[in-house]
Amino acid sequence: MTQHIHAKYQPSGQLQFGVFFQGVNSGTIWKAPESGSQTDFESFRRIAQTAERGLFAAFFLGEGLRLREHLGRPHALDVVGRPDAQTMLAALAAVTTNIGLVATQNTTYNDPAELAHRLASLDLLSGGRAAWNVVTTDNAWTGANFRRGGYLDHADRYVHAEAFVETAKRIWDSWESPAGPARRVVHGGQHYTVDVTPRLPRSAQYRPVLFQAGDSPDGRDFAARQADVIFSAHPKFDAAVEFRRDIVARSLAAGRGANDVQIMPASEFILGATEQEALEKKAWVRSLQIGPQQAVAYLEQFWGRELSEYDPDGPLPDIDPVVEETSETRGSGFHGAKARQLADQWRAEAKEKGLSIRQFVTSRTARVDATFTGSYSGVAEHLAEYARVGAVDGFNISPWLIPTGLDDIVNHLVPELQERGVYPTEYRGTTLREHLGLATPVRSDELVPAS
Ligand SMILES: Cc1cc2nc3c(=O)[nH]c(=O)nc-3n(C[C@H](O)[C@H](O)[C@H](O)COP(=O)(O)O)c2cc1C
Repeated sequence: MTQHIHAKYQPSGQLQFGVFFQGVNSGTIWKAPESGSQTDFESFRRIAQTAERGLFAAFFLGEGLRLREHLGRPHALDVVGRPDAQTMLAALAAVTTNIGLVATQNTTYNDPAELAHRLASLDLLSGGRAAWNVVTTDNAWTGANFRRGGYLDHADRYVHAEAFVETAKRIWDSWESPAGPARRVVHGGQHYTVDVTPRLPRSAQYRPVLFQAGDSPDGRDFAARQADVIFSAHPKFDAAVEFRRDIVARSLAAGRGANDVQIMPASEFILGATEQEALEKKAWVRSLQIGPQQAVAYLEQFWGRELSEYDPDGPLPDIDPVVEETSETRGSGFHGAKARQLADQWRAEAKEKGLSIRQFVTSRTARVDATFTGSYSGVAEHLAEYARVGAVDGFNISPWLIPTGLDDIVNHLVPELQERGVYPTEYRGTTLREHLGLATPVRSDELVPAS
């Protein structure tokens, strides 16, 4: 079967991998005996160097600006410790030579000139390997950590983000030549005013690569106008093809090319020499990811009350949730409104399928959708189909074990993909832009050189 995405879209036939080192989540098994520490540099170094051995395009760090809470207290099951992304990536730049270094940084609580300067610094010192994953956290709960508080209306997030990114790009673009001089960048707008003379010259890749993560229609349009790569939430084949179609249409509508915006969905791989071995491994991984406490805590987020008296291996709680007035996120899966309706729905579903709390929670977690399970060759075959159709440009992989969680991918899956001709056999150049095959940005006000 051939899926046509859009006549103007040309699949590259290639896939790239990134590694998403998740500091805080229940997807990484920190309690296994072979796990490292989530704050030790050694954990980051080993994962980054293994990824580089597997020719991964990028090492990716998320951002959480406040410790997650659970029932109004810091979440006891959360892993405490997510070092600042740019600090960590600067350290990793020194122990790697090729892999791209992606920092998730929000546009709401940073200042454009300062963030542009810090990202340009990372880009220069890494030899053109830096990227910025643009996110737009807006909730007041996170904002309370900052001088401005939760000052940005939800509807304004992307308006603000776009002015912010445009300003950063102009700062990076403002050099007549690599040696200077740089022009002043003046922006006066609704949310901020800056008058800045850039402090650093261009990097080897001209300016940091831009990633975007955010899935609303406004978020997708913003990505279609500004981003080089989208960190998407749609790894399953049909959903990935549909997302590609949507992004190609939005890119064309924004006046960009059909191939200008790449897509790398979040994913998890559970692999074995045989299908059977992979399935057994999956049962083991899931049992450690969603232990009894995590299962009950997950429901507590939606019930808004303690449920510790309920047996994780028994049925879902028969008491009703406390309905919260606010829909403000606490950095977890909490959805606020319609809690009672949701509880009824879930109880009915669990009863019908005969699922315990633990089994039900395991079936609910987002990564279920993002998981590729199977033999090395079976999964490679499946991924080759993504490459053939152009469903995605690659995958951003969350290892379930740190620091050894990429070993089987690099040792077994990558060679299978290389044999099928869908994965690089060497780094294309030295910069992230080159690895991804992205064109050098064209400065909007670039002078046409005399011939
Ligand atoms: C795959 C994916 C990863 C994300 N990672 C982060 C992150 O690390 N830190 C963060 O603050 N927001 C992260 N976000 C949240 C988005 O930036 C955004 O705030 C959220 O998706 C809501 O925006 P939307 O309404 O456009 O979807 C992520 C979103 C997606 C889809």
